Amino acid sequence: MSWIINTLTSTIGRKVIMALTGLFLILFLAVHLAGNLQLLHDDGGEAFNLYTQFMAHNPLIQLVSKGNFFFIFLHIFVSITLYVRNKKARPIGYKVSAGNSNSTWSSRSMTLLGTFIMMFIFLHLYGYWYHLKFVGEPIIKMVTIDGVSMHNAYALVAESYQIPGVVAFYVIAMIVLAFHLWHGFSSAFQSLGLNHPKYNGIISGLGKLYAIIVPALFALIPIYMYLNNAG
Ligand code: HEM
Repeated sequence: MSWIINTLTSTIGRKVIMALTGLFLILFLAVHLAGNLQLLHDDGGEAFNLYTQFMAHNPLIQLVSKGNFFFIFLHIFVSITLYVRNKKARPIGYKVSAGNSNSTWSSRSMTLLGTFIMMFIFLHLYGYWYHLKFVGEPIIKMVTIDGVSMHNAYALVAESYQIPGVVAFYVIAMIVLAFHLWHGFSSAFQSLGLNHPKYNGIISGLGKLYAIIVPALFALIPIYMYLNNAG
C-alpha cells in the first residue's frame, strides 16, 4: 500500500503516471483514428455506422472505454498537481527565461497545450459521445443496415462538419495536439527511464513522425467531409 502512496506523492512517481497514462492515450488515438477513417468511405456512412455500432455493443471495448476515461482523468488530474507543486516551489519564476536555448516551445507549454486539449475533449465528448450514449432518438437519427437498426453516427458527425466554425475548431485543436505530442511522446520514455544514447534519436524521430501524421489525418476528416458534403 505504501508504494502506492509514495508513487502518488513523489514528483517522480507522478511523472511516471503521466508517462504511462500518456502512452496509453497515444495508443488510444491511433485506434480512434483507424475507426474514424471509416468516415472517408464514400458509402453514405455505412462503414462508420457499423464500426460505432460494434464499439458500442462489444463488452471488451466498453471495459477498455471505462479505462480510457479513467486514464484521461488521471492524466489531467496528476498534471494539475504537478503544475501546482511546481508553482509553489518557484512562485516568481526564473528571472532570465531559458528561452529556446535548452528547451522547445512545446516542451515549455505542455500545460497550456494540455488545457486546450482538455477543453476540446469535453466539447468533443458532449457533441458526439454524450449524444450517442445518452440522448438518442429523435435527436440522433436511426439507420437500418443489414436488417439491424442503429444510431446514424455518421449523420451526426457529417452534420457537425457542415459548420465551418466546427471544422476550424477541430483543425486548430489538431494543431495543438500535434505540439503536445511533439514533446509528450519522447518525454514519456524519458520519464520511464527508457533512454539510451543509442535509441534516443529513434524514439524522438518516431515521436515527431507520430505527432505530425496522426493529428494531420484527424484534421483531414472534418476538412474532407466539409468539402465533400458542401452544397
Ligand atoms: C476527426 C476527428 C474525430 C472524430 C470524427 C471523432 C469522432 C468521435 C465519435 C463519433 C465518438 C463517439 C463514439 C461512440 O460513442 O460511439 C468519439 C469518442 C471519443 N473521442 Fe473522438 N473523434 C475525433 C478526434 C478525437 C481526438 C483527437 C480525441 C482526443 C484528443 C478524441 C477523443 C475521444 C474520446 C476520449 C472519446 C470517447 C471514447 C470512449 O468511449 O472510450 N477524439 N469520437
